[in-house]
Amino acid sequence: MIARAPSTAPNSELARPEILFVVARADNGVIGRDGDLPWRLPADLRHFKAVTAGLPMVMGRRTFESLPGLLPGRRHIVLTRDPRWQAKGAEPVRDVLSALSLAGGDRIAVIGGAEIFALFLPHADRVLLTEVHDTPAGDTILPPFTGWRETMRVDHPAEGGRPAYSFVTLLPPPAA
Ligand SMILES: NC(=O)c1ccc[n+]([C@@H]2O[C@H](COP(=O)([O-])OP(=O)(O)OC[C@H]3O[C@@H](n4cnc5c(N)ncnc54)[C@H](OP(=O)(O)O)[C@@H]3O)[C@@H](O)[C@H]2O)c1
Repeated sequence: MIARAPSTAPNSELARPEILFVVARADNGVIGRDGDLPWRLPADLRHFKAVTAGLPMVMGRRTFESLPGLLPGRRHIVLTRDPRWQAKGAEPVRDVLSALSLAGGDRIAVIGGAEIFALFLPHADRVLLTEVHDTPAGDTILPPFTGWRETMRVDHPAEGGRPAYSFVTLLPPPAA
C-alpha cells in the first residue's frame, strides 16, 4: 500500500502550495500500459482538463512524453534525473523541492505517473481519484490510498462499451 508519511506534515511546513493529486486508477491498481492510458474515457479527460485548468502541473518525464502534446493554459513541470533533458514547453526539475519552488502559487496538480505519485505522496493534501471499474492489463501500478478519507463520490455507469467509473475525493489519513 501507499503509506503517507506521518506528520513531517507538509501542512506544518513553511508556506507551500496545496498539492493536489489527479489520477485515474483501475480497480486492480493499473494506471498505465506501454506508456499510455489503458482505457479511453472521454469524460475523465474532460474532468482532468477541468480540475487542472490554470494550475501548474508536475509530472514525471515518462508521463510528459506520453502526452499527445502540451496542454493549453497549464505549465508542465517535469521531474527528470537527466540534467540534459529538455523539451519544448517543459520546465525540467531534479527534485520535489525544486518542483514546488518553481511552481509557486497556491496550488499545484501532481499528475503522475506512479513514480512521481510515490515521490509526492508524503506531501499530498488531496487526491482527485477517478476509479475506473475495470481490471485492464498494464505495466504501471499505483497502490491503493489506504487510510485516506473519502469526502465525495460521484458514480457513473458503464456506457457504450466503456467501463463504469467514479469521481472520488480523498483527504489524507488523520495525523498519527
Ligand atoms: N492513469 C493515470 O492517471 C496516469 C497518470 C499519469 C501517467 N499515467 C501512465 O503512467 C505511465 C508512466 O508512469 P511511470 O511511473 O512509468 O513514469 P513517471 O512517473 O511518469 O516518470 C518517471 C520518470 O520520472 C523521473 N523521476 C522519477 N523519480 C525521480 C526523482 N526522484 N527525481 C528526479 N526525477 C525522477 C525519471 O525520469 P528520467 O528517466 O528522465 O530521469 C523517471 O524515469 C504511463 O503509462 C502513463 O500513461 C497514468
